Amino acid sequence: MTMDIATWGSIYSGKRVLVTGHTGFKGSWLTLWLRRLGASVGGLALPATQYQQPLFEALGGSGALDYERLDDIRDGTAFQAAIREYEPDLVFHLAAQPLVRASYDAPVDTFATNTLGTAHVLEGLRTAKGVSGAVIVTTDKCYENHEQGRPFAENDAMGGHDPYSASKGAAEIITASYARSFFSAEQDPIVATARSGNVIGGGDLAPDRLIPDVIRAMDAGTQVKIRSPLAVRPWQHVLEPLAGYLELGSRILSGDRTASGGWNFGPRPGDVATVVDVLAIAEQTLGSSLPPIVYQTDPQPYEATTLSLDITKATSQLGWFPVFTNDDRVRMTFEWYALRAEGADALHQTSLDQLRSYEAAATTPSKTR
Ligand SMILES: NC(=O)c1ccc[n+]([C@@H]2O[C@H](COP(=O)([O-])OP(=O)(O)OC[C@H]3O[C@@H](n4cnc5c(N)ncnc54)[C@H](O)[C@@H]3O)[C@@H](O)[C@H]2O)c1
Repeated sequence: MTMDIATWGSIYSGKRVLVTGHTGFKGSWLTLWLRRLGASVGGLALPATQYQQPLFEALGGSGALDYERLDDIRDGTAFQAAIREYEPDLVFHLAAQPLVRASYDAPVDTFATNTLGTAHVLEGLRTAKGVSGAVIVTTDKCYENHEQGRPFAENDAMGGHDPYSASKGAAEIITASYARSFFSAEQDPIVATARSGNVIGGGDLAPDRLIPDVIRAMDAGTQVKIRSPLAVRPWQHVLEPLAGYLELGSRILSGDRTASGGWNFGPRPGDVATVVDVLAIAEQTLGSSLPPIVYQTDPQPYEATTLSLDITKATSQLGWFPVFTNDDRVRMTFEWYALRAEGADALHQTSLDQLRSYEAAATTPSKTR
């Protein structure tokens, strides 16, 4: 079985889809894709930061939205107002403080945004009329990680060492509680959670992420400082988990209650790579433009070194597959950044081209097995 991407257009066309976190990296790409599918898109997020602004503007900005509320998800009235004013059919909840290291600097803010924010979304669904449901985006870091090297399956225990991981594990528990307590009847909203790995792709400039750090060093003509060079991560191109979210969303809109619960979206087993592996691919792509690399030896805050996902559930039940190789992912990402000098229109065009190449690859049988 493969995902039937061809049906997405007829399912999403004309639907009102509210994306929280629409000004961010994934939210900007998701908005572009939803517009391509003919959906009306509403957004609720904080204003784009200096890191988010170039991507947000290039992929359409506020002009691509039929509704926008720049507001704080920690405020319970913000999501309620968005639901009341926009009356969405479906919600993708992406708004979060998404960085491990920032969570060490601001644990309370991270817990408030990622847990209370999620509760506010679920409470909004509980009291709203006519919403089919929501895809709540968490992370592969939501699992209790004893560093045993075993891929995590959806029914493994939630946990988290650093505040970011713990806040996302807690968001999962909060979502499961709402599902059991309030969303079990046939007419209730259907709520799925999506756990994906380290996402790369054009336009992300968030601090303390590998490829954005490389891009910043290239721009500044400085060295790039790399921490945890041997950390193993499930790298993905941003379009890969987004396709999983869209497949879940299409099933929710179709009233398919089997979409509820947790879903892992990671690379194929054996396709995980270390930070050093990714830098080696970057070197093949960039050649001498790759900035000099310095490995940091000073003590760093704790981050898990081994993390991989068991994707059997998504492949067997949704027909979702990772379609790119690590070479494809890194090459597509640097191709995007290389066009920045040509302006927003070129970036918009190349983003649509990359979307089309994802859609072609995802419907090529040899790629999806
Ligand atoms: N990028 C990754 O590698 C990755 C991996 C796994 C999971 N995720 C998850 O995907 C989601 C999107 O991540 P991203 O990389 O696009 O992050 P990002 O930082 O680019 O975007 C975050 C978005 O959340 C919004 N936001 C943050 N705090 C808010 C608040 N208090 N109120 C309202 N909006 C707020 C921001 O305005 C922005 O629109 C997050 O939930 C993140 O945890 C990301």
